[in-house]
Amino acid sequence: MTTTAFTDIAWLTTHDPAHALPAGVDAAASGVGRHGAEVSRGLADAWLVVDSGRVAAVGTGSTPPTDQRVSLGGRSVLPGFVDSHTHMVFAGDRSAEFTARMAGQPYAAGGIATTIGATRSAMDEDLRAALAGRVAEARAAGITTLEIKSGYAATPEGESRLLRLAREVTPHTTYLGAHVVPPEHAADPAGYVSLVTGEMLDACAPLSGSVDVFCEEGAFDADQSREVLRAGMAKGLAGRVHANQLGEGPGVRLAVELGCASADHCTYLAGEDVEALAGASTVATLLPATDFSTRQAYPDGRRLVDAGATVALATNCNPGSSYTTSMSFVIALAVRDCHLTLPEAVWSATAGGARSLGVDDVGHLRVGARADMVVLDAPSPDHLAYRPGVPLIAATVVGGDVVAGDVGAGPLG
Ligand code: NIG
Repeated sequence: MTTTAFTDIAWLTTHDPAHALPAGVDAAASGVGRHGAEVSRGLADAWLVVDSGRVAAVGTGSTPPTDQRVSLGGRSVLPGFVDSHTHMVFAGDRSAEFTARMAGQPYAAGGIATTIGATRSAMDEDLRAALAGRVAEARAAGITTLEIKSGYAATPEGESRLLRLAREVTPHTTYLGAHVVPPEHAADPAGYVSLVTGEMLDACAPLSGSVDVFCEEGAFDADQSREVLRAGMAKGLAGRVHANQLGEGPGVRLAVELGCASADHCTYLAGEDVEALAGASTVATLLPATDFSTRQAYPDGRRLVDAGATVALATNCNPGSSYTTSMSFVIALAVRDCHLTLPEAVWSATAGGARSLGVDDVGHLRVGARADMVVLDAPSPDHLAYRPGVPLIAATVVGGDVVAGDVGAGPLG
């Protein structure tokens, strides 16, 4: 097996508690330490050795002998982004909805039915090609681990088709039959919930690692959501909830009550929601690109971290409320508008996402981790928010292989 040393790394974010904070970062003032001892720790002027797709060693000073050496010329390296919430398998375009929102229309759950219509009538090859394009875009944006939900078919055959397509590109698939009640079941929502917890679940559970429900006015209420989650979790799936996206409601508390892996959105939280998340194993996943695209208030990430909640960041890539694959954009919003510190935002976009997905060998670059990395065309990850909108991802590395960009580019411009 070939060993490769990546050298000349200005700052290597490892999230190893034994390593240092970046120069100039004061633990108390930056929020580091409140979110976890490993947040943003790393090494200056570092190297990293990859063997068989895993991090074999990290350090400073002279590089150990390896088969290959790749100089990163003063760039910084961080763990690959872990995007723990996307709806990437769909057909159709809803840009007109976005345009209308920017002219004053509110976002409503009902738009999902538009995508259900387009997705149901799309051929497998078309869905597969569109998905491949989005995955390539995500890779170029530094995403190395990706969750994908179903949710745009709302029939047993349709939802299982979307999960099969998603499984072609990621092992992290989520059954979201309870996205919205489709038009043909509008007169009998209870009947639709029975379908979701019965025949549809039977078809989809073998293709999924998680079950999700949109617990919101216009989608599913607390009792319906509980039924969906309990049925899925009884089949061994991890629970996830689209919670408190459009207003305060029962979603977050339900997620904590049932021991779900994540409560996603968390935009409108009452004090009791924050208390429930503080200390719970349920990860609070913020999706601020959604709040940008729906022109809503942003979630208060600071309040969650200070209360002791574990916070993840994800893109929520979908055609209705957040059509982006840019984790850099999400980090910039989380820092500016959700009031996370930069080290915390980087942790949440990497290790936080890994916590949500229940995987422990990604989201950090400690020895033994999968060698999934973002090579940043900047001397530190702070530039992700400091230089918003600038394409700073020089290369994305998965299991030691470059899957997007170019690691061998010359020195920083
Ligand atoms: O997370 N809220 C539910 N699902 C998506 C939106 C899907 C859509 O509008 O098509 C979300 O924002």
